[in-house]
Amino acid sequence: MRVAVITSSDSGYAGQREDVSGPVIEEIVRASGYEVVHRELLPDDFAMLRDAMIRICDEGSADLVLTTGGTGFSPRDVMPEATAAAAERMVPGIPEAMRAYSMQFTKRAMLTRAASGIRGRTLIVNLPGSPKAVRECLEYILPELRHGLEILLGEAGECAR
Ligand code: MTE
Repeated sequence: MRVAVITSSDSGYAGQREDVSGPVIEEIVRASGYEVVHRELLPDDFAMLRDAMIRICDEGSADLVLTTGGTGFSPRDVMPEATAAAAERMVPGIPEAMRAYSMQFTKRAMLTRAASGIRGRTLIVNLPGSPKAVRECLEYILPELRHGLEILLGEAGECAR
């Protein structure tokens, strides 16, 4: 399974802040056997984020796009909107599960507006911006994503029993 990582950060893009969260995503997914094929640091810009996601999905260059940052309340936080604009089908359960699980760490987990969606055969999942939040959320959802990706790629049957 191939993963693309997109970090949304004005200060990171401007070179004023190191992107720590993108590398945390890479470390976690590699440890689970995923291949990181693409890494991109973009400003909190709706069109740039949307277009980057569309490009990756339409090229078919990754099976999973994981994003970090831009999910909060700041006026520049537009990652969920960019994701919804890129997606053909939304996947609300993944961010719902992330938020529910994260409440044990901080009740501020309710403040992430993270979204998830599918475009073509690629799944996009937003993660919050802090490396701590990335680790907490991703380690929780990642084991279940594989089954979804296998169905998306036609490698697993549906789950009717
Ligand atoms: N989720 C987890 N698991 N752990 C955290 O520390 N931080 C929250 C939330 N989700 C947090 C979390 C906070 S404080 C904010 S403001 C939102 O994510 C949005 O983060 P973002 O704007 O960096 O994307």
